[in-house]
Amino acid sequence: MKITIAGGGSTWTPGLLNAITNHKDNFPIDELVLFDNNPERQKIIGEFGKVLFREKYPNLKFSYTTDIKEAFHNVDYVFCQIRTGGYEMRKKDEKIPLSMGLIGQETCGPGGFAYGFRSIPDMIKLVNDIRKYSKDAWILNYTNPAAIVAVALKKEFPNDNRILNICDQPINLLKSYGKILDMDYREFEPYYFGLNHYGWFTKLLDKKGNDLLPKLKEVIKSEGFLPADAEQRDQSWLDTYGMVQQMVEDFDEYLPNTYLQYYLYPKYKLSKLDPNYTRADEVIDGREKNVFNECKKVYEQQTLDGIKMVHNDAHGDMIVEIAMSIEYNLNNYFIVIVENNGIINNLSDDAMVEVTATLGKNGPRPFTVGDISTFYKGMIESQYAYEKLITEAYYEKSYNKALMALTLNRTVIDVNDAKKVLNALIEANKEYWVELD
Ligand code: G6P
Ligand code: MN
Repeated sequence: MKITIAGGGSTWTPGLLNAITNHKDNFPIDELVLFDNNPERQKIIGEFGKVLFREKYPNLKFSYTTDIKEAFHNVDYVFCQIRTGGYEMRKKDEKIPLSMGLIGQETCGPGGFAYGFRSIPDMIKLVNDIRKYSKDAWILNYTNPAAIVAVALKKEFPNDNRILNICDQPINLLKSYGKILDMDYREFEPYYFGLNHYGWFTKLLDKKGNDLLPKLKEVIKSEGFLPADAEQRDQSWLDTYGMVQQMVEDFDEYLPNTYLQYYLYPKYKLSKLDPNYTRADEVIDGREKNVFNECKKVYEQQTLDGIKMVHNDAHGDMIVEIAMSIEYNLNNYFIVIVENNGIINNLSDDAMVEVTATLGKNGPRPFTVGDISTFYKGMIESQYAYEKLITEAYYEKSYNKALMALTLNRTVIDVNDAKKVLNALIEANKEYWVELD
């Protein structure tokens, strides 16, 4: 079995390599390749990988490359996570809207819009490159903004059933619920619906079929909410999880995805976000620095001995568990992004919804959700219209549709704001975006 990681130079890659190592007995692979278009960044992680595998997984054939054929020839799984423009552009995605009094966030609002417009062409190219050399490889894609990428890939490759778009936030939330309830999150049968970074848990069943959601809501209302790995998290993530308490106090039917904070409380979040030091800065000064320093150190001393691993493997574990569920037809529960096609009964068929599915050899088998009630339907309809209009704006090179999209986003609303931020983002993204007429 051959696996390729597209985005070999990502800060998440060392954690993924470690997760692959930890699963070597229950998910054995023969060959692993890192692929990136940034050779300098990838080299540091690739050299770390060589030491890691030499010491912990010596029979694994490992290499890193910038060559498409080497990367994608005869591959079984591609784990993709690319970031067009890198963290420098993430900074702009966050700071440009914030400088105008609008939410500036990696995947939500105008920042997510900008990132989406950069990701679409690169993801289309990547899928074409993979398909040129491996027709049947599973493409497990967690490139952001996953909601927009999923809509665009469905439009470009409507019949390709081996592209699976996924996000780790629902699992992160399940792990956090597990911590509160003192249970392993794998025991849960979650009920969930929405769009990516825009959804709700409606039930959380235990093995006996009892719904744990009412109890969880009570605990969160009275004690607040923390991520399962709180000690490894920066303050901004603790604040984000903290907002779940407020969200459940205001609308206590379901448990919300943390990203809903930006859409439900844009004014409050705006007052808390620092336009001069955003999450991108925090990542550059924190995770990126730590991960790359660690990799360099391992490379220099040519052994893992005495190195305290700073990276987080949880993200990697999720990817490996997804691949295992497909490869061994385990049909475990995952929350994945799939075409609606009636899953949510009163929502258009072409929406790319995030819902619970079992995952096996033939892909995801989602569970039906049925009708959703007016508030959620209203929220999702407008957000989906925004996602769809972005994709149309991209294909039609339409300024007007881009403006419509931003106007529909709950973090923007005012057309004058939408225009102002769109014009500034066009200027900042000249190197990356299609030109809009
Ligand atoms: C969660 C989301 C990802 C997102 C990440 C950002 O895991 O599901 O989509 O990329 O957070 O994390 P960061 O630490 O880079 O802000
Ligand atoms: Mn995500």
